[in-house]
Amino acid sequence: MVSIGVGILGGGTVGGALATRLLTEQDAIAAKSGLTLELRHLAVRDPGKPRPYVFPPNLMTTVPEEVVDDPEVDLVVELMGGLEPAAGLVMRALQAGKPVVTANKELMATTGAELLEEAGRRGVSLLFEAAVGGAIPIIRPLSESLAGERITEVLGIVNGTTNFILTRMCQQATTFREALAEAQSLGYAETDPTADVSGADAAAKAAILASLAFGTWVGRDMVHTEGIESLDVADIGFAADLGYVPKLLAIASETGTGIAVRVHPTLVPVGHPLASVSGSQNAIYLRGPGVDELLFAGPGAGGGPTATAVLGDIIEVARELLAGAPAPPRVRLAPAGLRPVAELETSWYLRLEVVDRAGVLARIAGAFGDLGVSIESMVQIGRGETATLIFVTHPSPESGSRRAIEALSGLDVVRQVAAAIRVLIA
Ligand SMILES: NC(=O)c1ccc[n+]([C@@H]2O[C@H](COP(=O)([O-])OP(=O)(O)OC[C@H]3O[C@@H](n4cnc5c(N)ncnc54)[C@H](OP(=O)(O)O)[C@@H]3O)[C@@H](O)[C@H]2O)c1
Repeated sequence: MVSIGVGILGGGTVGGALATRLLTEQDAIAAKSGLTLELRHLAVRDPGKPRPYVFPPNLMTTVPEEVVDDPEVDLVVELMGGLEPAAGLVMRALQAGKPVVTANKELMATTGAELLEEAGRRGVSLLFEAAVGGAIPIIRPLSESLAGERITEVLGIVNGTTNFILTRMCQQATTFREALAEAQSLGYAETDPTADVSGADAAAKAAILASLAFGTWVGRDMVHTEGIESLDVADIGFAADLGYVPKLLAIASETGTGIAVRVHPTLVPVGHPLASVSGSQNAIYLRGPGVDELLFAGPGAGGGPTATAVLGDIIEVARELLAGAPAPPRVRLAPAGLRPVAELETSWYLRLEVVDRAGVLARIAGAFGDLGVSIESMVQIGRGETATLIFVTHPSPESGSRRAIEALSGLDVVRQVAAAIRVLIA
């Protein structure tokens, strides 16, 4: 059996799990794939660091360039994370004519267009199945199985940390801070959770999903992004009474006059397939005229699940190497015609704290009506000096809704617009 030399850059959560599988499951992988994968090097920052598996010292290096440049390394696996030195090393491998597998969403959402172009120029593959959704197969389905489908919408729960936090806030009525602390104590959230809770991690994945679904280059900085930090547990309770579940959604849609890509907290109707995706699970839901609806769901992170996705890419690339015929580029990226979020139709859940007296409703309805926003439902909670009014609006252009929210804030009968959360237009 022919053997393929594999060099891994990064031996942390994913790289460590992958290296362990390559060392301990070599025969099983060979029996199933017909390939012998030989781990030649594992680059880390600190070889003395305690790791769950003790790797042979001769495999470890602190010089990642050595891994890329070794003629015995046929394919390079980048699992360091971050932009540099990962981007430079991936480019170096591609320029040397070596295929690359990566799980790095930040890398792909920032420099993916350049790297894919270089891979195409050199006639080698750059695969990144694990960059979105961990173990969930979604990159290959989007770029191959669904290459003939005209996808109209992709909705993703692509960040397990925020989904865990929101699930806890729903199920146990804990505050955002309490749920975040629990996520941190269970290892679902980093000590610095900013990238997750701000939506930045999901934005990188949204950019990748949109690029593949619509065959157009969407960079991470082109994604309108809002996080979950300011969600109030009170609204989660009120929304539940109205039949909604909060999710941090990555939304990429074909609007007819351009693509729109955004990440923001969204109230999802309880009957929608994404509403029941709970805890740290991820899911990607997509629609198109041929397939109607598809749902991909499963563990979106973790060393073991993610290593499985990386291993699948490695086996595919190794087969191409053996066949001596690299696959033609799977992804073609034309420049994007993006629509700003302000132009989209959006529907809102609004919680207003108002003065409880006659005529207030008429003033509020007037402010909505003046800006062309119509009300789907309204609930009053409590009486007394201040009453709480909850509105759900019909879809209307986001710019009008935003002006309506501003106008409401300025009314003397409105003490505050206490919450404004978008509602999924299903
Ligand atoms: N963790 C997940 O569940 C998951 C899921 C999907 C995708 N991903 C992606 O997979 C990638 C890896 O994530 P991870 O969680 O495995 O990260 P990690 O645990 O932080 O591991 C990073 C590894 O890279 C090594 N490294 C970093 N900079 C280096 C340098 N300059 N030279 C040599 N080695 C260096 C580190 O060495 P030391 O061990 O010595 O520190 C460590 O082994 C990221 O792009 C991430 O977004 C992760």
